[in-house]
Amino acid sequence: MKISVIGLGYVGSVAAAGLASVGHDVLGIDINAEKVAAYQSGNLPIYEPDLADLMEAGRRAGLLRFATSDEVSEPLGDVVIVAAGTPPKESGGADLSQVKACLSWIMERQTGLEAILVKSTVPPGTGAKLHETVLAGSSIEYVANPEFLREGYAVHDWFNPDRIVIGGGEKSQTLLHELYVGMSAPYVFTDITSAEMIKYTANAFLATKISFINEIAVLCDRLGATIDDVCEGISLDPRIGASALKAGVGYGGSCFPKDVRALDEVALTNDHNFELLRSVITVNNRQKYLPFYALRQRFGTISDLTVGVLGLAFKPNTGDIREAPAVSLIQQLIDDGACVRAFDPKATDAARKALPDGVTYTKNAMECAEGCDAMILMTEWEEIVNADWKTVAARMNEARFMFDGRNALNPDSMRKLAFEYHGIGRPSKVPKVNSAAPSLSDQHS
Ligand code: UGA
Repeated sequence: MKISVIGLGYVGSVAAAGLASVGHDVLGIDINAEKVAAYQSGNLPIYEPDLADLMEAGRRAGLLRFATSDEVSEPLGDVVIVAAGTPPKESGGADLSQVKACLSWIMERQTGLEAILVKSTVPPGTGAKLHETVLAGSSIEYVANPEFLREGYAVHDWFNPDRIVIGGGEKSQTLLHELYVGMSAPYVFTDITSAEMIKYTANAFLATKISFINEIAVLCDRLGATIDDVCEGISLDPRIGASALKAGVGYGGSCFPKDVRALDEVALTNDHNFELLRSVITVNNRQKYLPFYALRQRFGTISDLTVGVLGLAFKPNTGDIREAPAVSLIQQLIDDGACVRAFDPKATDAARKALPDGVTYTKNAMECAEGCDAMILMTEWEEIVNADWKTVAARMNEARFMFDGRNALNPDSMRKLAFEYHGIGRPSKVPKVNSAAPSLSDQHS
């Protein structure tokens, strides 16, 4: 098939390279000339494991090309995939302007086109409306085809999908089997709005699991129970499972925070108060500041402290800092006068642009620890988890306060190295710092 993919972010770039790898003739399109040039030269503008090699193979086979939207003069092919961004608006709702602009652009060049597949995450009801308006009178099929790729594992997830969700008419079923040739995942064929709802429901449910376990972790801290054991105990129930149950400083990234807020807005505009979702958001907003509360409780004042932050990306294996808990935390530490040192294997450049001057960026955990009173692990990069902790301890000031915001380290090993270790829902034995949320009385005072 000849396919055009519009929007070369995490989803579009992986889709383009993945489809070329099974023999489709793919043109990747973006309005951003710098981005297009980067893909053409093989110098990817994003860090995503295995993507560079996959793209290189596609380019060599002559099946993957890139162009800016201004440069495109050829027909767009049998299918166009829309993977434009849907960033959050002030109100929390999704900004659909990029998706709408893509559709209008496509409709001006639609010769021979059979279907438009929308992978962008759009609020339920959007596709049906666009089908009736932008595509009115045309025989082109509108297909909602949400993606479930995780950043950092996107290439792996592309080739090993749990499911392929397709919202559209009958023609879309044949087309999609042809498009996803060789993929052995279960197909869910449904209407456009239900397909869109599946995407939001999946992300909102996963976010709910994370906030739920974070609330349980707070209680574990209060009661002296250990969240790791609690999780093991519940996850053996197949109805619960083990995924999205890692307590920590909360979910970040370009998806969960945005999609949960957007679903909340969809609910409100449809006259429904989705209270559970509101709580998910509130709990998540709190989690990223837990290390700050713990520091305040332990040291009283923050302004005399030098704090090392390990991990800036919203999760490991990505350079993405969008809605990263570490960014909010560092901002708070700086506002309260702390000296901040930081380390991340891939996200330093992005963080430099987002954070105020004054943060000292370092090359590894050991360098980061130099002269620190406290270290806070915010992202569980393998390189950070497996750091030389003995050297880290030796380079820190006497307090050796360690807040493990992802429960990624072994508390006993850390304590043996003379760290004052605190996790989330892993009550510490010496000395007691309530690392969890401020108590009810604090919150109301
Ligand atoms: C998420 C979904 O997992 C994908 O299925 C979906 O396709 C994607 O959003 C999207 O909508 O495009 P992603 O944002 O890449 O993928 O990252 P996740 O691995 O799901 O993690 C999201 C956040 O939750 C991270 O900050 C992570 O640290 C946090 N998290 C995750 C937890 O705090 N605890 C957990 O148990 C799992």
